[in-house]
Amino acid sequence: MNSEEKAPVGVVGVGWVGLVTAACFAELGHPVIARDVLQEKVDALNRGEITIHEPGLAELLEKNRDRLTFTTDMDELLASARLLFVCVDTPPTYSGDADLSRVQSVVRDLKADGDHVLIMKSTVPAGTGDSIRRELPGLAYVSCPEFLKEGTAVQDFMNPDRVVIGAEPEDADAAEQVAALYRPLGGEMVMTDTSSAEMIKLSSNAYLATRISFINEIANVCEEVGADVGEVARGMGMDERIGPHFLRPGIGFGGSCFPKDVNALKLLAGNSGYHFQLLNAVIEVNELQKRRVVSKLGKHLGSLVGKRIALLGLAFKPDTDDMREASSLVLSARLRGEGADVVAYDPVAMDNARSLLPGVEMRDTAREALTDCDAGVLVTEWSEFREIDWPEAAERMRRPLLIDGRNFLDPGILGSAGFVYEGIGRTGDR
Ligand code: UGA
Repeated sequence: MNSEEKAPVGVVGVGWVGLVTAACFAELGHPVIARDVLQEKVDALNRGEITIHEPGLAELLEKNRDRLTFTTDMDELLASARLLFVCVDTPPTYSGDADLSRVQSVVRDLKADGDHVLIMKSTVPAGTGDSIRRELPGLAYVSCPEFLKEGTAVQDFMNPDRVVIGAEPEDADAAEQVAALYRPLGGEMVMTDTSSAEMIKLSSNAYLATRISFINEIANVCEEVGADVGEVARGMGMDERIGPHFLRPGIGFGGSCFPKDVNALKLLAGNSGYHFQLLNAVIEVNELQKRRVVSKLGKHLGSLVGKRIALLGLAFKPDTDDMREASSLVLSARLRGEGADVVAYDPVAMDNARSLLPGVEMRDTAREALTDCDAGVLVTEWSEFREIDWPEAAERMRRPLLIDGRNFLDPGILGSAGFVYEGIGRTGDR
């Protein structure tokens, strides 16, 4: 592909979404200029160093280095690209609303010059597009929410299920230019208005989180009635109205998106005068689910005072070093609160985890983490945990007890290795 023929793409905010967006548009042949306020990050990226763990991303950045420029200079960005993807963070405030201060600061830097198109990728409450358009009349505004998942972000970007593009009628040309950028990727195009696009994003995340809390409660009932949640989810998922995805029970959802967006949608509804009853339950079930492991351990070990517990995995999910809202944070705090000593191992998240988990001893391998422990808890389903030599681990532990918080391991293998194994809503292992 000849990059001269492709429209330059600007990216504002080089976090997870921004960096993936920059790398993928460069891979599609566009010259990309990406701006972040952090000089250190920009310098590192210009040297070809990548700061986050995301499969395939480093390779893509390296391969397309000549099409990628990173800068802190907003004027340089505005001079180089008309189409500007805003990918800044919208973290939760103390009250749980989305903090739009970074979005607002970008908007302040933009001029409604009739030339630039602001393409909002950051997750924002419905109505944000309308208020930015009121603030900067004349600015072309397109809402284009992101649906990529950490760990498979590059693949998700390149193979979208759908691309949602929201704009008002006067910005129809801008919407079409954005659609043209995504057309080579295939996938359904949803052309709609800005508020609906914003609601599609929040509702999708809230619905997926609802499915997870639902299956987690089903798992808890399965434990009471002696059913196996894996079988239940399999049978449910075959109904094409239900489908098989996002029905994996565990010890709660985490990450930078689901907890934040469920709360943000609940508050958005509340602020608009509607009490979103269901989402309260989704959040509450998720919090309780993170703590169930503590009672499972108590059932086997009695008091946890002085007991040594190994956490296998710390990141909120595998293939990422992201610790935001990870279940390991709540779990380790609860275990330490009960008087247990906590040791932990994660293949990539330990550097990020260290300052968040004071008092938790980090180990270099899963094998070392399990040594001399009264129990192991699988918190994140990293594939390498399937390769653990379980008979050997049983010998090294004080007590061969394993709570599998993600139903990831084979109960048969653990059983033959001498372990007492317990998953979430699984039969045949209690
Ligand atoms: C999520 C959405 O899946 C993306 O579509 C969206 O773009 C993104 O949020 C965002 O808004 O930026 P992500 O947070 O990266 O992506 O991760 P997921 O794979 O969705 O997992 C979220 C959490 O749910 C993890 O803690 C995971 O362990 C948990 N989960 C997921 C379950 O407990 N059960 C499942 O069946 C699936």
